[in-house]
Amino acid sequence: MLYIGIDLGTSAAKLLLMDQQGEIKKIVSEEYPLEFPQPGWSQQNPEDWLSAVLRGVPKLLEGFDAAQVAGIGAGGQMHGLVVLDREDRVIRPAILWNDGRTAEEVDYLNNEIGKERLSQYTANIAFAGFTAPKLLWMRKHEPELFAKIDKIMLPKDYINYQLTGVHATDVSDASGMLLFDVEHKCWSREMLDICGVRESQMAKVFESYQPIGTLRPEMAAALGIPAATVVAAGAGDNAAAAIGTGTVGDGGCNISLGTSGTIFISSDRFAVDSRNALHAFAHADGHYHLMGCMLSAASCNKWLMEDIFHTTDYAAEQAPITDEKLGRNHVYFLPYLMGERSPINDTNARGTFVGMTMDSTRWDLTQAVLEGVAFAIRDSLEVARSQGIVIERSKICGGGAKSPLWRKIIANVLGVSLDIVESEQGPGMGGAMLAMVACGAYGSVEEACSALVHVVDTVQPEPELKQRYEMRYQQFKQIYPAMKGLFPYIL
Ligand code: XUL
Repeated sequence: MLYIGIDLGTSAAKLLLMDQQGEIKKIVSEEYPLEFPQPGWSQQNPEDWLSAVLRGVPKLLEGFDAAQVAGIGAGGQMHGLVVLDREDRVIRPAILWNDGRTAEEVDYLNNEIGKERLSQYTANIAFAGFTAPKLLWMRKHEPELFAKIDKIMLPKDYINYQLTGVHATDVSDASGMLLFDVEHKCWSREMLDICGVRESQMAKVFESYQPIGTLRPEMAAALGIPAATVVAAGAGDNAAAAIGTGTVGDGGCNISLGTSGTIFISSDRFAVDSRNALHAFAHADGHYHLMGCMLSAASCNKWLMEDIFHTTDYAAEQAPITDEKLGRNHVYFLPYLMGERSPINDTNARGTFVGMTMDSTRWDLTQAVLEGVAFAIRDSLEVARSQGIVIERSKICGGGAKSPLWRKIIANVLGVSLDIVESEQGPGMGGAMLAMVACGAYGSVEEACSALVHVVDTVQPEPELKQRYEMRYQQFKQIYPAMKGLFPYIL
């Protein structure tokens, strides 16, 4: 049998076709636009996601027996607010995970409702990208549109709804709405009340590996696959990526270097860090995880390479950054090009180069960007360490993880061994694996991971380099607190 994994990302839907042995047969990517209508705002049209899937699946299946497709599973960009009216029409563009328009609503939730109550209701506090503040923003700024809302959903759930007609979500993605009681895996009535929404507008919640239904006949015809194809509930992209790298069970760790950068720590037990600096979410394996999310990771490097240096040859820009330069760069970069989520929770923060001199080169800037992202991931790792969580090794995935230089910098800045898996296709691979479990091809997510995910290489930290980076990190840590007070004035 064949399985389709969908990675519903911020720049494209990446579709992959996998057989039951985990062999990836084909990958197809369909891009869509991203709008920034005001600085710090970020929106997308849900219909563009659907068109990308409808265009991509037939291309994916060219040359294969489409009748063999048994299941579909998606890992989707998290937190995006998708709202439909009674006729199932999209009411407004989806407000995305990296949108920073809700500073006032976040302030209201964290300071008037109070972090303690939010954490008691949902295991989390408010961050600008989360879904609940966006509902409050819509209620205040677009009351007529808010009144029309019949269904509230997340990006990959919009695709699943179109495919099956079932208004469903999964526990991992629901966790990022700030409307979900993560510990008990149900909607929080208190949070729904605070946001002025009813439970009937919310999706039915499934575990990520459960089937939500099969295809509507018109979708089966459009995709060219059997109507009996099972659609799994799927997961938020980070939980799906964690499945795709085998990060399940207690104490697993996965670092994702995509548009966002995340450090994902899997756990058998529900837990919340004492400052709520990390997200405490349900995992797609049926358990829980903690996660730090930075809003711009590989996107900082893409910005420097493509928008500033006007090149797409990333490897050529990294080639002059030889081993003796590592841990010795005097240029630093704060990677806050879209504000920042974890752990500083500051929508006003901005990207910043510090420490340049007349002899600084473009390669020092490139190195500073790669290092700045690594230091910012370390900030979240330090929160986990302060809770007594020991992380000595991690998987790594995402576009940025293809760079051997970046992997080396991250291993040494974090002081962890980085395991590289054979098929580095994070969310798409995880989505296909969830579909396999939903179809009964594997008895559990853990079973699918041990059969299908293989570590092929490990990057070890080197004692001397790790020490050099320790000194650099201590300096990096002082830059944001020194700048923090200034950011609100330079918007
Ligand atoms: C996680 C987050 C991002 C998006 C990116 O909390 O906001 O990683 O899921 O797609």
